[in-house]
Amino acid sequence: MERDSIFADMLFDSRPIGVFDSGIGGLSVLKHLVRLLPQERFVYLGDTARVPYGNRSAETVRLYSSQCASFLLTHDVKMIVVACNTASALALDTLRATCSVPVIGVIEPAARRSTSETVNGHIGVIGTRATISSDSYAQSIEAHSDGRSLFVHSQPCPLFVPLVEEGWLDSPATRLIAEEYLRPLIANGIDTLVLGCTHYPLLGPMLSSLLPLVKLIDCGECAAHDAFDALGAVHQDVLHTPQISLYVTDHTPAFTLMARQFLGMPIDEPVRVSIDNLARRTSER
Ligand code: DGL
Repeated sequence: MERDSIFADMLFDSRPIGVFDSGIGGLSVLKHLVRLLPQERFVYLGDTARVPYGNRSAETVRLYSSQCASFLLTHDVKMIVVACNTASALALDTLRATCSVPVIGVIEPAARRSTSETVNGHIGVIGTRATISSDSYAQSIEAHSDGRSLFVHSQPCPLFVPLVEEGWLDSPATRLIAEEYLRPLIANGIDTLVLGCTHYPLLGPMLSSLLPLVKLIDCGECAAHDAFDALGAVHQDVLHTPQISLYVTDHTPAFTLMARQFLGMPIDEPVRVSIDNLARRTSER
């Protein structure tokens, strides 16, 4: 992407930044965007009616992601952050080819960071089944290897998403499952682990205690830094009230409680947008 020309002047563009995810997980990405870009307005769409994307086919993830992006474009966003690893792995190229604004995914920023963090060259990647089988992380790490020999050890961890949504962030059952998933990565001597799913940062403290010598990479934090750089923003110490318009395709009473955990701050009730509405907006584009 010709970053400089595409992103020029976006800092002074008062339009909001659009962010979408398959559901609630992308709020862990939004958390870092809000922290780094407190002066910006955000429109967040969580496709909570159709979550999870992680076990779906590439074709379906592309369709859903295009519908989410179209919805955000109708809110006149200046940039779209795909705050979902699965959508970034399977739909980023499609979105970049069809959207009129710059699109930032979560995979390339985290892959790049992992290559600068690893010392022994053994990088672990964990994510949903769809993200891991897309091989996107391994390809992106290879692309940023700069001629070094890097070894990527990937592991799908499908049980982590429901465990996080259940709030079992450090229960004995979660630890047992984590130990099982991490065993092959530990055997391969990883010194860096990419948390390649929006839900996994909430398991960070538990994972750190199981892997005290391994550097954990939070994809949301990395993507937020890319958005910050792309906008040419400067760090501000001024306190702003976050300006977030929150939309979901399904709303349950548990949402607000979980949203608070992912975002790390209280949040207003979301506005529900029907899937028919999303699909119609896409076909009208
Ligand atoms: N947001 C998804 C991701 O980061 C996890 C949840 C899902 O499978 O949709 O891959």
